[in-house]
Amino acid sequence: MGQPAPAFPAALDLLEKGKAIAVFENLDTEEQQELLQSLCSEEILHILENMSPFVGFCHSNRNDKVYLKEVKPGQRLVLPGIDVAIYLDNAATSFPKPESVYRAVDHYLREVGASAGRGAYRRGLQADRLVYAARTALARLFNVPDASRIVFTANATEAINLALKGLLAPGDEVVTSSMEHNAVWRPLKRLERERGVRIRSIKCARDGSLDLKQVEEAVGKGTKMVVTTHASNLTGTLMPVAEIAQIAHRHGVIMMVDAAQTAGAYPIDIQALDIDLLAFTGHKALFGPPGTGGLYIAPHLLPEPLKEGGTGAESLLEEQPPTLPERYEAGTPNTAGLAGLGAGVEFILQEGVEKIQRREKELLRSALEELAAVPHITIYGPRDPEKQMGVISFNLEQIPADEVAYLLDSVYGIMVRTGMHCAPQAHSTVGTLETGAVRMGLGYFNTENDLASLANALKEISREMAR
Ligand code: ALA
Repeated sequence: MGQPAPAFPAALDLLEKGKAIAVFENLDTEEQQELLQSLCSEEILHILENMSPFVGFCHSNRNDKVYLKEVKPGQRLVLPGIDVAIYLDNAATSFPKPESVYRAVDHYLREVGASAGRGAYRRGLQADRLVYAARTALARLFNVPDASRIVFTANATEAINLALKGLLAPGDEVVTSSMEHNAVWRPLKRLERERGVRIRSIKCARDGSLDLKQVEEAVGKGTKMVVTTHASNLTGTLMPVAEIAQIAHRHGVIMMVDAAQTAGAYPIDIQALDIDLLAFTGHKALFGPPGTGGLYIAPHLLPEPLKEGGTGAESLLEEQPPTLPERYEAGTPNTAGLAGLGAGVEFILQEGVEKIQRREKELLRSALEELAAVPHITIYGPRDPEKQMGVISFNLEQIPADEVAYLLDSVYGIMVRTGMHCAPQAHSTVGTLETGAVRMGLGYFNTENDLASLANALKEISREMAR
């Protein structure tokens, strides 16, 4: 515990009066000290004075935020006007983003401004280059030889819709898993209704794992495509996509992977894994803004476009041009988002995806250990950092998932996602269709402290509710 800064007399006074335990960590810059002082408004001091036992302050060097810290270990208190958040919902969208992402979006909006692919003047070309840079950075990350085979979409959902609806014809059969997100399941169900597409969904084990023998049995003559998530958004369970691709290709079947959870956090080499279609989202582990995503399309595939419209070139054609990426990118692109996505992917390339994976694995190991010590907890999924991504779902006995998530947020300032996670098939597989589950999704910027805080908060909730 450090000494309170002399520049913070009000807190020092409270400390002397025995009303405060001030905890200052890494209070090393003037800027940070000013931040602390600015927090100590009259209103806040009043709240703090009336609180017993008092809270202290600690500074996170992770994201330059000042957090209030209660005397009880691990518990954080939400006070009006102060964001005392621990963000553990990276499986829904990553936060915070690398600083360069914020700067790239700001730079485009403020200093470039022109539409990409629409103007031959300098600013227009600058906008083109931002989109091109994002595409080529992704091509490097996924080891795609020709970047134009990566087409941008609004998210992974749109990419999956494009692939499924653009390739599946009446009577085709699709083999999939019972751990899929609605982004896969709902388009398939629509295609079943409207085109008579046949769905063979392989039932996974309760930990979300897929038995390759069942894939062997399911893939057959009528199969057109195998589509699987790379990692479940409910349990984090990793699917053996390389082995599944081998089986698919032995039968001449298209291999499609939904990498919404893994892209950016887990190495993906489309050549080594032999993937024909890779759908990804930009706003999760790729660190881009929401509204970005894409689809890698292997050279031997040419899906029907999902939408038609302006492409900025080949305007005389009455239909979408056959060339990629224009064929699938009708309408003004989300250049601000793509500039941010490009910066996010550059950040990953500079850090190294292996390093990111290692760090997330360490955090995951720590989270699994911490959570296992919480009384009355049931953790779903493999509970093994080698077999899952940084996503853990759980329930506390007798306490509804929504209530746990509400208490985590309102009392402890910890953000997690609860409910069905848009994946009822997965919940049914795991056995939580009736109850739902609480899910924490860790990210590269989380710390072991965040995970300890989550576990401590859950211990308290479990104890309090058991009374
Ligand atoms: N599919 C995202 C999630 O699992 C939004 O939370």
